[in-house]
Amino acid sequence: MKLIDIGLNLTDPMFRGDYRGKKVHEDDLEYVLKRALDAGVERMLITGGSLSESKEALELARSRDYLYSTVGCHPTRCSEFEDTSISASPEVYYEELSKIALNDQNKVVAIGECGLDYDRLQFCDKETQLKYFEKQFQLAETTKLPMFLHNRNTDGDFAKMIRENRGRFTQGVVHSFTGTSDEAKELLDLDLFIGINGCSLKTEENLSVVASIPIERMMIETDAPWCDIRPTHASYKYIKDKPELLFESKKKERFELGLMVKSRNEPCTLRQVLEVIAGVHSRDVQEVAEIVYRNTCRVFWPGTGTGN
Ligand SMILES: *[C@@H]1O[C@H](CO)[C@@H](O)[C@H](O)[C@H]1NC(C)=O
Ligand SMILES: *[C@@H]1O[C@H](CO)[C@@H](O)[C@H](O)[C@H]1NC(C)=O
Ligand SMILES: [Zn+2]
Repeated sequence: MKLIDIGLNLTDPMFRGDYRGKKVHEDDLEYVLKRALDAGVERMLITGGSLSESKEALELARSRDYLYSTVGCHPTRCSEFEDTSISASPEVYYEELSKIALNDQNKVVAIGECGLDYDRLQFCDKETQLKYFEKQFQLAETTKLPMFLHNRNTDGDFAKMIRENRGRFTQGVVHSFTGTSDEAKELLDLDLFIGINGCSLKTEENLSVVASIPIERMMIETDAPWCDIRPTHASYKYIKDKPELLFESKKKERFELGLMVKSRNEPCTLRQVLEVIAGVHSRDVQEVAEIVYRNTCRVFWPGTGTGN
């Protein structure tokens, strides 16, 4: 079974043993990647959420042939555009992003993550978010790359922005979807794909929304180190290989090299997301995997032959 994780934050210090600035265990990134490959994850897309993170994501992507990256600025980081301690002006910030995006066309496969997040306005106000979300359509337009999108609790503003700018980009995926069926339908009508991870599958309501989304319009992600599927989630009953059986894990304080760390999600759990989707759609896991794989290649690796 071939799987592609379209969203993981591999630049997160947790994968180096660093938790909120505190070194808890040794760097085990190599083991994280090996577990993912062993679990059938054949490509991984590292999300860049700011200028510096996009640089770092690309650097990491270049170190392994199966890693790729996005370039963009997350809505909660949008004030960076105007932060003169980072760049001289918003135009300079934009130009820097653009340079990274055009730097390695084999490795940078999307613009993002960008979008709107009204759950976390304390990091960046609405007006600033809207301004620089808009700006990133320009980035997609000039680079001709698809978009990796983020949307949280925006009461129609996100869909409105997409509608107004839909002609400026080719394809896009709204990752970590947690909205209603009506919201999903709205995005599908805008010809976007929907990215599903453990956070999209927490409640029974979430599951019935996922059941309403055609598999032909879905992609899968882990959003690691976040969004792990837990025994308390509605999704858990659909997992065939329960996580604790799949790979042994220890609490970070009792870290052992070669084992997973409890509640730090990893790309090796991607198959669980797939099993839940197959479960709620009453479809064969292998069949769902093939459809999702094809969707993903068509958007992020068009013209490579893998999309057929
Ligand atoms: C990745 O993780 C770091 C550390 O938690 C965080 O600062 C950053 O915003 C995350 N990036 C994305 C794209 O979520
Ligand atoms: C789905 O779950 C998330 C939590 O991950 C929650 O915030 C959201 O409201 C849920 N969506 C629906 C439609 O129930
Ligand atoms: Zn996101």
